[in-house]
Amino acid sequence: MTSEATSPTVAPWWRDAVIYQVYPRSWADSDGDGIGDLPGITSHLDHLSDIGVDAVWLSPFYTSPQNDAGYDVADYRDVDPLFGTLADFDALVARAHALGLRVIVDIVPNHTSSEHAWFKAALAAAPGSPERARYVFRAGKGAYGEIPPNNWTSNFGGSAWTRTSDAAGEWYLHLFDVTQPDLDWTNDEVHDELEDVLRFWLDRGVDGFRIDVAHGLVKAEGLPDAPADFDVTVDATALSPMWDQPGVHDIYRRWRKLVDAYSVEGQDADRILCAEAWVLPAEALARYIRPDELHQSFNFEFLMTPWLASDLKATITGSLAQAAAVDGTQTWVLSNHDVVRHASRLGFDQSPGLSSVAGIGSPDPQPDAATGLRRARAATALMLALPGSAYLFQGEELGLPEATHIPDELRQDPTWKNSGYTLRGRDGCRVPVPWVADAPAYGFSPSGKAWLPQPDEFAGLAADRQEGMPGSTLELYRRLLKIRRERRLGRSSLAWLDGLGPDVVAYTATSPTGDVTSVVANLGSSPLALARPVNTLATSNDLHADGTIPSDVTVWIDGPLTA
Ligand code: NOJ
Ligand code: MG
Repeated sequence: MTSEATSPTVAPWWRDAVIYQVYPRSWADSDGDGIGDLPGITSHLDHLSDIGVDAVWLSPFYTSPQNDAGYDVADYRDVDPLFGTLADFDALVARAHALGLRVIVDIVPNHTSSEHAWFKAALAAAPGSPERARYVFRAGKGAYGEIPPNNWTSNFGGSAWTRTSDAAGEWYLHLFDVTQPDLDWTNDEVHDELEDVLRFWLDRGVDGFRIDVAHGLVKAEGLPDAPADFDVTVDATALSPMWDQPGVHDIYRRWRKLVDAYSVEGQDADRILCAEAWVLPAEALARYIRPDELHQSFNFEFLMTPWLASDLKATITGSLAQAAAVDGTQTWVLSNHDVVRHASRLGFDQSPGLSSVAGIGSPDPQPDAATGLRRARAATALMLALPGSAYLFQGEELGLPEATHIPDELRQDPTWKNSGYTLRGRDGCRVPVPWVADAPAYGFSPSGKAWLPQPDEFAGLAADRQEGMPGSTLELYRRLLKIRRERRLGRSSLAWLDGLGPDVVAYTATSPTGDVTSVVANLGSSPLALARPVNTLATSNDLHADGTIPSDVTVWIDGPLTA
């Protein structure tokens, strides 16, 4: 007899897991310094088991000068004192596991911090030395080497090259901040070191890794210029010499073997790897989840798809087909710490094509908050019944909007400065979350400090205000996650339901349990009438009294929908 865990017909846990992203500096502060920390996270983990997610992903908490909020790692094997200690981390993992939550951590393999011992040694060593060979140092062009080696630009604005001040005047590559030098993945020492870091955290009990800039590690040979008009949101990523180079897949084949060595026969305990790869089209993204590579890769095309029925159907259809072609599953996501929160992104007029994810400031056009929240709830309900896994970003379960009025002088994201004060960047989605409406810093910190100011409307959105409140966003998430788990919606197969009009996204999800759930999202401006009365399981907002589905509402229905 085969048990459920060993049966090859039962998908492993990660194929339909719901994973909640905690951005450590913004979730819960235990020591009153205004910056969230590991003990703060540990003390709030029951919030996650209560809403019914399967795992938590922690953005970086490693030793770091915090120039890019921890995505600039100075020591991959330690906890920054800002966030606590390794003992605090062990306590966090123990508490999470006791609550039945798995723990995913971030790994940042594309670059280190300039404070990392390796980079300090590289700067102190001569051109051509083994110390410099761990990074991408090159001579400049021009008579005096005064022109950068190529035309690459940093993701945060400006050149991707900075010149050293030593006699040779070599340049080093940084696809992000000047304090985030890129590692050279043609160097075996780099492979060995990062693999050793993976083992360090696996041995401490983590259940997997989210791989930062997974599509950036390998650069085209010879570092050729990028096409002048290259745009990652429009063009296939493979046109660029720094993203999605074929060699990255060799790295992930090695990593997959490494994590697979930790799985235990007969236990549903895979340690997983999830790519942060801003790669288009879906076919190229799916290469990251071939059976011998990564388990998951965020579907950012879905995140960038506007709230328009035909666009969403096209994205979902293409994504599912491409994942199925490699026997993989989709990893849906609507918000994270790098993009405008979906409760605000969807509060703008939607037009066909992929939408921008840049930050918002006071002088910019402002989203309509009510429309944004309504659509965000509907979008989440649409997502959570799709086959595959899903990631949630802290605070979306409270319906938090983007903070769009942070005073410019308080901005922390390097994007603002590096872009010459043209791109406001990502602070607006990183504001500390509100737990208690009537407490200092809305319960984020006992001292009332918060590293970014919290907007006044956070009071009404605090977790304690929503707890047990019918119709609240928090209760909606709890209900959707409960039904999703009971009906195993993440393992269902999808069939589109046509005939409800051009502004409707509707599908049936048939679970391995035999449950049939119909999902209907009305993206049109007028109410949608269904032909027969239905048994509603959940609605993203109330239906009209006559049973019609209002604009921007998604409904989960028990059973098939017959015309
Ligand atoms: C992607 C991370 O999500 C982002 O926050 C960071 O700035 C860059 N990678 C660079 O590490
Ligand atoms: Mg703190």
